[in-house]
Amino acid sequence: MSVFDAIRNRRSIGKVKPDRPPREKIERMLEAATYAPNHYTTEPWRFFVLSGQAREVLGELMEKSLRHRMTETHSEKAQAALAKERHKPLRAPVVIVVVSVRPENPKIVDIENVSAVAAAIQNMLLVAEEEGLACIWRTGEPARDPRIKEHFGLGPDEHIVGFIYVGYQAVPRPQRTPAPYQTKTWWLGWEE
Ligand SMILES: Cc1cc2nc3c(=O)[nH]c(=O)nc-3n(C[C@H](O)[C@H](O)[C@H](O)COP(=O)(O)O)c2cc1C
Repeated sequence: MSVFDAIRNRRSIGKVKPDRPPREKIERMLEAATYAPNHYTTEPWRFFVLSGQAREVLGELMEKSLRHRMTETHSEKAQAALAKERHKPLRAPVVIVVVSVRPENPKIVDIENVSAVAAAIQNMLLVAEEEGLACIWRTGEPARDPRIKEHFGLGPDEHIVGFIYVGYQAVPRPQRTPAPYQTKTWWLGWEE
């Protein structure tokens, strides 16, 4: 598969089978991540690869996080929302929490580390595509919740850049045709 084919074919797949992909496939994704460009070679990415019961722990934290944001928690509707939240990390057999750590050197701008981690995640998604895996990059409020960040040893100025849900595709691939680059591109100086 060419890189361009992987880029073009990759789609976010929200529904995957319960079968856990072999560790070697996940390791290949992680290795690909580490080749992402990163300013001052800070290698700011860290990975927490959750499977089995570790996803339940994240689900409990996500439920607590939602409870904290709710104005009332006793109604049937609220209880259903909390149960749904707790179940979220169980939607895939593997969830990779991808983190950007704090720049140690004052020369390093935080957004550049986060940008590097985003590039690392795209590498992971493309290798997953090549490996026949299905992924979705998720964030939402849990990615910013200080309690959840703390669970992964992160301080306030460190970031969960993505929860990458990984498995084998269980639903047809959603179609998406991006707006043509021509509508978003200005060529400058090309007439010279
Ligand atoms: C930073 C970031 C955060 C995202 N967070 C979520 C999310 O919380 N939930 C979700 O369903 N998809 C999330 N996505 C996936 C996008 O919804 C998806 O990439 C977009 O719909 C385009 O579809 P495609 O990936 O199939 O091309 C996120 C993507 C990015 C880059």
